Parts: sequence; C-alpha cells; structure tokens
Amino acid sequence: EHSREITQTLSEFLLSTEQLLEVKKRMRIEIQNGLSKSTQDSATVKMLPTFVNSTPDGSEHGDFLALDLGGTNFRVLLVKIRSGKRRTVEMHNKIYAIPLEVMQGTGEELFDHIVQCISDFLDYMGMKNTCLPLGFTFSFPCRQTSLDAGILVTWTKGFKATDCEGEDVVGLLRDAIKRREEFELDVVAIVNDTVGTLMTCAYEEPTCEIGLIAGTGSNACYMEEMRNIEMIDGDEGRMCVNMEWGAFGDNGCLDDMRTEYDRAVDDFSLNSGKQRYEKMCSGMYLGEIVRNILIDMTKRGFLFRGQISETLKTRGIFETKFLSQIESDRLALLQVRSILQRLGLDSSCDDSIIVKRVCGAVSHRAAQLCGAGMAAVVDKIRENRGLDHLDITVGVDGTLYKLHPHFSGVMHQTVKELAPQCNVNFLLSEDGSGKGAALITAVGCRIRQELS
Ligand code: BG6
Ligand code: GLC
Repeated sequence: EHSREITQTLSEFLLSTEQLLEVKKRMRIEIQNGLSKSTQDSATVKMLPTFVNSTPDGSEHGDFLALDLGGTNFRVLLVKIRSGKRRTVEMHNKIYAIPLEVMQGTGEELFDHIVQCISDFLDYMGMKNTCLPLGFTFSFPCRQTSLDAGILVTWTKGFKATDCEGEDVVGLLRDAIKRREEFELDVVAIVNDTVGTLMTCAYEEPTCEIGLIAGTGSNACYMEEMRNIEMIDGDEGRMCVNMEWGAFGDNGCLDDMRTEYDRAVDDFSLNSGKQRYEKMCSGMYLGEIVRNILIDMTKRGFLFRGQISETLKTRGIFETKFLSQIESDRLALLQVRSILQRLGLDSSCDDSIIVKRVCGAVSHRAAQLCGAGMAAVVDKIRENRGLDHLDITVGVDGTLYKLHPHFSGVMHQTVKELAPQCNVNFLLSEDGSGKGAALITAVGCRIRQELS
C-alpha cells in the first residue's frame, strides 16, 4: 500500500555508481568546454579566471578590510595579517542583515546599503579616517579582466537587484562609496567565496589547491594550469579558476536524473532553467525539494491525513538548519515531531518517520552529486600533472557541509569511490572566506607596489 508507493517515489533519488560515474564524466566534459576557446562562449560551467596565480606563502602582511557578500551572512571584517617567524591573523567582524527588499531591489539601493554597513563598521572600529585596502568576497559569477574588475554574469541564489548584471561590481562599489562622500577605500580585489575559502585553508595547509562551498549555493575552484586556460594568454604556472559548477546541467545534460520535484523547484525559482546542479545540491534548494515531495505525498494521502496546510504551501520553510536537525540520528522521533510542530506542521508519529526518510533521500543524493563533481575535479588535476596518484586537500565552507549530520560523510565517501587514484583530504575553513580575501588583497597590494 502506501509504504510501497513511498519507497517507489524516493527511489527516484537513488543514484547507482554507474549514474554517479556518468555525472563525473559529464562534469569533466563541461570543464573542458569551459576552458576551451572554441566552446567557452556556450559553456554552462564557465571556468572563470580569477587572476589569482598562487596560494599564500606566509609573506602577506598588513591591515585590510574585507566584505563577504552572498552566503547566509553579510559580513564586514578588519583583518590584520602579520608575516615573519610568528605569522598571525587577527580578525574583527560584524554581521549585517540584507533585507529581502534590498536583495531584490535596485542595484543602487543594494550597494548603498553595503556602504552604509561599512560606514557603521568603521565607526564601530574607530577607523573612519584610514583609507584601507579592501578585498570584496562577492559570491556570484563574475567575468574578471584583472584582480580588481569583475563583471557580474548573472545573479544566483536569492539575489536579483536590478542594473547589476553586465556591470563591473567593483565599479558599483566604488560609485556607492563616492556617493556617500564620507570615507575612502582602496578596492584591490574581487574574490569568489570558493577562492577566498581556498586561500584561507591554503594559508595553513599548502597542499590545499581546491576550494569548495556547500552552503546556500554550491561551487568549487581549483588551481588550473595556465596552458589549459585558453582565454588567458601565457602558458607558465597556474591560475585559480572559479568553476561556477552550479550551472552544470543548464544545457540539459542532467535532465535524465532530475525528478518532477526538481523541475517544480526550478520552475518556481528566481532563475528558472539556471543553476540546475546547484538546485539539486545546495542548502537553498534542498528544503524546497523536500517540501514539494511532502505536498505530493499529502495529495496522494500518505501524509498529514491528506490535509495540505498553509504552512506546507509556504516557500522556504525548510531551511538547512531544520533539515540538519530532522536528520540528526540522536534526535528521537518525538523531537522530529516537535520541530515540525514549530514549523506549523501537525504530524503523527508515522508522518515524522516519512518526513525524515524524505529529507534523507534528498540530502543523500545532494552529497553524492557534489562528490561526483569533486571526483571530476581531482582527477582532472591528477591528469594535468601526469600522475598515477594524487594527494590533495580541499578547503571547504558552507552551512550544509558544517551543519548537516550526513552530507560531509557521504560526499567524502563518494569522492573516494569515484576517484580511487586520488587521496583527498577535506579541510574545514574555520574563519570563512574573508581571511582569504584579505590574503589576496595583500598580494594585490604588493604587486601594485612592485609595478609602480
Ligand atoms: C562563509 C564564507 O563562511 O561560508 C562565505 O565566509 C561563504 O564567503 C559561506 O559564502 C558559504 O556558506 P553559506 O551556507 O553561508 O552559504
Ligand atoms: C552560487 C554562486 C557562486 C558561489 C556559490 C556558493 O553558485 O554563483 O559564485 O560560489 O553560490 O556561494
């Protein structure tokens, strides 16, 4: 009866090893398309050059401001880096809210708000009169032409401010600082959060050459050989490439693995048709997939006595932190029920068992898909270097990775199975990506001085 149908529905979320190897293979093809001149214009995985040519070496030094925009929290940070025998990094930061109407208002309002927050932070630190160098972690796809210029390709996740796409984001920030006529800042670098995370981790662990975010969004970056990055002149050394892998599948290449629930989530999102892989893997969307399954199961009479409540119709109710709690093994079902209760969902004991199974199916697939993508990356790096075996470290950040009880374990296991010739070590970024943005800014400042 019901139980068989529920199992049947959730089986659509089971991926076999063959399917996962297929995901890895397709990711590898899209990576190649993004890197090659002849295919990059239409490539979905954009492989954006970052103009960051190396990981930190410990010689970085100075005081920097950093902004961190695009994850769960918007932060302004002061980062004091000291080089020498006893390297230290001291950080002060403040979290600010970005109201929904600002995220989805006009670009001018968004950047005015950002500068307003910087102003508050400088007051708080008593630093209004110093013109500090700034590194801007901006967690969206940007086409960079230098370290301090990046054109926003498209908004992703929950942002949709007008008049920003196609514009240089550093220019928008500088304009907003000028408009305010209150303080000066020297914007030195624009940095994707994956890149900031990679740099933060590589500062402690030099074998770290990949950055991964499993949070609101999903994305990775890694050190690619210059000779393989066809849109950039020069063949020597390496450059960090922001993959923007969230857009994997936007050409339809994952459609055979997407379910009707994935399509529903996509259809009702701010950017329908875009970021299809991200919508199967990242925190902002997992709860929505769960909600769509629950609605369907309720309609079919398997759940909530067949009653679809107003709450269940509300978008975004299952945040990553709730999914993480529901799936926690230490939690008794009674507690699952009380979480659902707090969300406004009246559940029986049987309901709570089903909800937990649904959450498990969705997050397990997410972790496996993310692992399959990572397997493609580590094998690419291994082949770049002509090695039979590669030891490498991935710097990771993001609430899904940090809070979810099973995501990280399943992801690690998947990478191991799909890339057996690589020994991949995962290192959690403890300080977010602001520290990495400051390290990149330090290098940017040094290069500028050398040139002048
Ligand atoms: C933070 C980083 O720790 O993690 C951000 O500092 C990043 O730059 C974020 O965007 C990603 O996680 P989430 O879950 O907040 O999107
Ligand atoms: C989205 C953004 C990407 C970012 C990721 C994680 O995919 O497009 O730039 O790195 O989210 O925050």
